[in-house]
Amino acid sequence: MKKKLLCLFGAVVMSFTAYSLDITTDVVVVGGGGAGLSAAIAAREKGANVILLEKMLMLGGNTNYATAGINAANTDLQKKLGIEDSAELFYNDTMKGGKNKNNPELIKKLTTDSSNIINWLTERGADLSEVVFTGGQSAKRTHRPAGGQAVGPVIVDALAETAEKDGIDVRTESEVVKIIKTGDKVTGVEVKHKGETYKINAKAVVMATGGFGANAAMVAEYNPALKGFGSTNSPAITGEGIKMVNSVGGALVDMNEIQTHPTVVHNNTTMITEAVRGEGAILVNREGKRFINELETRDVVSKAELEQTGKSAFLIFDQSIRENLGAINGYVKRKLAVEEFTLEELAQKVGIDGKTLVKTMETYNGYVKAGTDKDFGKTVLPRELSKAPFYAIEVSPAVHHTMGGVRINTKAQVLTADGKVIPGLYAAGEITGGVHGANRIGGNAVTDITVYGKTAGENAADFAKTSK
Ligand code: FUM
Repeated sequence: MKKKLLCLFGAVVMSFTAYSLDITTDVVVVGGGGAGLSAAIAAREKGANVILLEKMLMLGGNTNYATAGINAANTDLQKKLGIEDSAELFYNDTMKGGKNKNNPELIKKLTTDSSNIINWLTERGADLSEVVFTGGQSAKRTHRPAGGQAVGPVIVDALAETAEKDGIDVRTESEVVKIIKTGDKVTGVEVKHKGETYKINAKAVVMATGGFGANAAMVAEYNPALKGFGSTNSPAITGEGIKMVNSVGGALVDMNEIQTHPTVVHNNTTMITEAVRGEGAILVNREGKRFINELETRDVVSKAELEQTGKSAFLIFDQSIRENLGAINGYVKRKLAVEEFTLEELAQKVGIDGKTLVKTMETYNGYVKAGTDKDFGKTVLPRELSKAPFYAIEVSPAVHHTMGGVRINTKAQVLTADGKVIPGLYAAGEITGGVHGANRIGGNAVTDITVYGKTAGENAADFAKTSK
């Protein structure tokens, strides 16, 4: 028997069942974030019996933290708004952002399927009715809920409710400790729940446990330059899934490619969404000067921040940006943003050069009027920043996304080092490597987890049907 509670994000399922008996199913999905939920729903809707396992008490994983939106090209909403975009342009932006280290086949599928995934999520209850710019993109393609609310909780709620309606057996506080392999085939998992270990025999296993951004030791092992950095990730994102897949022969790719997010509250781990910069916020240094095109890719902006006095920067925006982006209300309520009626007062409060800040703002507003940023070449200049009150948040980079992980093909099948498929084993989302190359574009994680989550679920269900 299961008890369900409404909690933090609405329909997040919590289970108080004590599971201990070995059981058999068609498809077992490991990880209850956006990728796992998408996989479980897609497999179930193809007729498979599905068990979804989540090690935490709550569903959602890192997806609960996703804020800016989900990137997609050629969507009905873009067409309705007259936005010119295409899967090819999206492909080119993604490859450029990833320094061409991305697996081209995986990006081709990601960008081609992106429009369809918006429909799939919308049909399952996710509101994705606005579209905006974020960094590294040459078209408005970041789809988000109305009013600029954070996208992740909206998607998790919609998918958790769908999973419940679809009759998926969702088991929380259920940690997978081993992938079972019989001969060359994956045939199930071992699960630890409240101190008891039991087996789930399955025809197919989908691993969707996320990356390793919250595992500081693993981050430092693969990229020593990031030793001591904070992390924006859920504490659940500790990389055991990657190790388990590797232990049954799955190859790992790009493990050293770890992204920092440039606007994380300084000396804190709260991420301030890139959408604030997408709406027109500027970044200044302690001297009150801009130092970068704020909508450059995350690696470029992060590097530039670390070159400023105190290795931090100040995100400056006005009331009109706040009115356009619901997520900002949360930052103000939580006192992460300093609010003042004049730029001079704001500068004094946060300890930056006020006279220079006023001058910087005059110059910037002039560029917006003229439609050209003569200093840094920013091409997205949505508004002058002139409506009081003004806001400032001191920010610096923190570990945000681990681009490396398990090697997969376009069917989300896990591959060995010599490119062979491991029968019965699929992976999707941040556990995988190769999609984002050397640097992920903001808004592409949610596309990745849903496109490849759905693909993994569908293919796992098909495999289960034909498997004896
Ligand atoms: O800035 C953000 O809202 C993060 C988005 C992302 O990582 O895709």
